[in-house]
Amino acid sequence: MGSARELKKIPVPFRPRLGENGIRTALAENFMDKFVIRGGNPLVGTIRVSGAKNAALPAMAAAILTEEPVILENIPDVRDIRTERTLLVSMGAEVELGYGRAHHRTTLCCRNLANPEAAYELVKTMRASTLVLGPLVARMGRARVSQPGGCAIGARPIDLHIKGLEQLGATITQDHGYIEASAERLRGGHIIFDKITVTGTEDLMMAATLAEGETVMENCALEPEVSDLAVLLNKMGARIEGAGTSTIRIQGVSKLHGARHRIIPDRIEAGTFVIAGALCGGDLTVSNCDPGHLGALLKKLEECGVQFKTSENSVRVTGGHALAAADVSTEEYPGFPTDMQAQYMALATQASGVSAITENIFENRFMHAQELVRMGANIMVEGSRAVVHGPAQLSGAAVQCSDLRASASLVIAALVAEGETILDRVYHIDRGYERIEEKLRSVGAQIRRMGEILPKKAAAPVGVA
Ligand code: EPZ
Repeated sequence: MGSARELKKIPVPFRPRLGENGIRTALAENFMDKFVIRGGNPLVGTIRVSGAKNAALPAMAAAILTEEPVILENIPDVRDIRTERTLLVSMGAEVELGYGRAHHRTTLCCRNLANPEAAYELVKTMRASTLVLGPLVARMGRARVSQPGGCAIGARPIDLHIKGLEQLGATITQDHGYIEASAERLRGGHIIFDKITVTGTEDLMMAATLAEGETVMENCALEPEVSDLAVLLNKMGARIEGAGTSTIRIQGVSKLHGARHRIIPDRIEAGTFVIAGALCGGDLTVSNCDPGHLGALLKKLEECGVQFKTSENSVRVTGGHALAAADVSTEEYPGFPTDMQAQYMALATQASGVSAITENIFENRFMHAQELVRMGANIMVEGSRAVVHGPAQLSGAAVQCSDLRASASLVIAALVAEGETILDRVYHIDRGYERIEEKLRSVGAQIRRMGEILPKKAAAPVGVA
């Protein structure tokens, strides 16, 4: 394995503090961008899916658990990954970016973590930053992590992460918006999650790898991203059994070592493109994905009458067929994913009949509904249930993105709509979709990114203060 210094790297002495331009600059990219989309074009060809954002983020946090380099491949080039890199570098980690053909590879070395802190500036832009909490306490014996605060889609507390860490023997205090956690060495324990939580399972699974003795976790999340993390941790020398089931057993070890790991494909990105293909007509192959991770979605699309074929690592969808309405309820994996609910709503606007969509995971995840109504959809929202009457002829309009998956839903609707749609705040979609406009354009969509060119400050005329 090449030494951390062989690959081209971000200069190490980058230790931003709260409010320092470093963090702001790193986060300030393309906030003014918009998409302009002209609907009505069939999608023909192949779109390649990137690595899973929700597998890459915990995998990067896992690098904290060892002083040796961890090499991650198939990392998506999306904004949340860049935020995670900024976070790890702010702690003292060395982060190497692969270039050219190695573009989707990252090498992380957390040998010198002088500053085990996740600052508010970063955590407020990406809640998944809290995934460093467990690994920092386990490896460094202490951590200072900002409370995440509110989120567009729901309250999203991390009380179960904290409760679990306390059950592993950590001492935790919370003040001034920060969680301070410390432990000489964590000790194995028995954790029963009150509620299924994806990052909660990941955070505590990571913490337990270096705890003294055995940890048993019950009512765990079954998401493929949890299993992928366990594969990486076991490659690093951890002793984890049962990931992917509701009971996970972890035998603590005293030290972990470096490893190389390829991140699984992004099932939500894949599902987004399958729905776009189903609605836009044409013949689209979504490649480099794992149809096995899309079970609940594909079953539902079949029920709606979507025509598709799967292979080992692709889904081929032929669009333009009449669709029938079907109700859906979001559930934890392997149920219908909440991260596909918004995109499914876009489909429901084109299906004949009434679709009832029930959101069971997050309490405020229908922000896209009103924007779809602006485009001509017929949707009534009542609490955690939305009722969609279809089919509706959508027409292009100026709409606003509110969160990552809501944005994907609006992109799909705009591809179907008659005329031109202008999507504002696409920085939301850049958080989790790698160059979505280029991928869609490559199969025939009319979509372009419009960056707002801020006018240069006019030079003061001579002699005027
Ligand atoms: C993960 O978020 C994903 N994010 C989310 O994807 C996804 O929507 C979610 O799982 C559900 O599938 C990442 O993996 C980085 P949870 P997470 O903890 O782990 C409550 C996207 O679009 N809860 O499983 O934060 C919580 O409020 C994002 O890519 C507590 O009450 O979700 C929610 O109602 C959005 N206390 C439910 O559990 C806790 O301590 C499930 O949340 C933790 C969670």
